[in-house]
Amino acid sequence: MTKGLFPVGGPVDREDLVGREEFIVSLVNRLQEGQSVMLAGPRRIGKTSVAHEVLRRLREKGAYTAAVDFFRFSGKRDFAYSLINACLENRTGIKKTLSILQDKAKALSGGAKFAIKLKDLEISFGFAEKKSDDELLDYALMLPGILADRDKKLMVVMFDEFQDAPRMTDTEIFKRMRAHFQAQKDVAYLFLGSKEGMMQALFSERKEAFYRFATMLPIPGISEDDWVPYIVKKFNSRNIQVDADMVKEIIRLSGGHPQDTMFLCSEIYYTLLETGDDVITHDHVRLGYERAMLALAPIFDEILDDLSARPQVRRVLYRLALGENAYEEGIHPNKVKRAIDLLLGRAVIERTARGSYVFVEPMFQQYILEQFQH
Ligand SMILES: Nc1ncnc2c1ncn2[C@@H]1O[C@H](COP(=O)(O)OP(=O)(O)OP(=O)(O)O)[C@@H](O)[C@H]1O
Ligand SMILES: [Mg+2]
Repeated sequence: MTKGLFPVGGPVDREDLVGREEFIVSLVNRLQEGQSVMLAGPRRIGKTSVAHEVLRRLREKGAYTAAVDFFRFSGKRDFAYSLINACLENRTGIKKTLSILQDKAKALSGGAKFAIKLKDLEISFGFAEKKSDDELLDYALMLPGILADRDKKLMVVMFDEFQDAPRMTDTEIFKRMRAHFQAQKDVAYLFLGSKEGMMQALFSERKEAFYRFATMLPIPGISEDDWVPYIVKKFNSRNIQVDADMVKEIIRLSGGHPQDTMFLCSEIYYTLLETGDDVITHDHVRLGYERAMLALAPIFDEILDDLSARPQVRRVLYRLALGENAYEEGIHPNKVKRAIDLLLGRAVIERTARGSYVFVEPMFQQYILEQFQH
């Protein structure tokens, strides 16, 4: 979890989760009805934060939940352990139930109660060591269904960075998962992924394992109306005054992008700590913005380097940043289209309902304008 007045980096806690209330309610409702959902969205847009809150509310309503992140795993066994542990925690209340089982002394000191809690799941001392990687994996994939059935509970499993699952073995893993999942009753899955193209393909192409397995929903932005009271309250909590118009200026600069807005507020806050002022002025905002840009520059440069290997991309990017039509005389439209497709694929830009393009990260757009003007 993240720290600081304005948390930046990892998933945020409930009190720092701004907006998206209707979306969260809708996710809770769908999952509660047993519908699986897939959310794909660019990096740092707040997918994991939303998902954690959804699971928290589902637990509050009595459901079992489990969350695993595919970004972390080195292999099948590693993944199987995580999923089994996450499932069992619902019963034992202990995070690493399996490792306690491995340590017989520890388990025994925990009392017979512990073993009894797991008995009907055929898990006992030495359970994991006796199984091959594949046996353990199959067991892990079945466990949500077994638990839901035995305990007469709804089980909701969240898989983060789902597109990375093949990293632990190969793409066959998707077929294996689907085979298990579709046989399960009273289990709903929430799939998250930051590689949108891969996620879309996996869930919407006929030949793919997860074809039509989950409802795909777009992640809504965070509105100004939600940001303003949060930001005012946060600054006030440190005895700093800021008026709503100034906060709107901050949101305009960050474009309301979840992480960039938090980051910008954070830099403004540190600026005030240094000057010792307790009322936010335009100057603080400007200084904070410059600092935030400076800190983001290495990340933006990396994205630019990565994109610039392709012809025309820099030019198209610049024209889009200027708000101009990307298609121009003298450059073959196919080339422009390829550049746009690449930018869409990398989630640098998005297509609006009206068919124009906007930057996912308005501060990146601003960065391009500043860089390319020189
Ligand atoms: N609802 C929100 N309210 C306020 N800030 C948010 C919100 N969602 C995300 N953020 C900001 O964005 C950061 C990243 O959030 P989170 O890890 O949930 O995003 P993500 O899409 O899962 O990112 P990644 O692609 O790195 O997995 C948070 O640390 C926070 O600064
Ligand atoms: Mg995430």
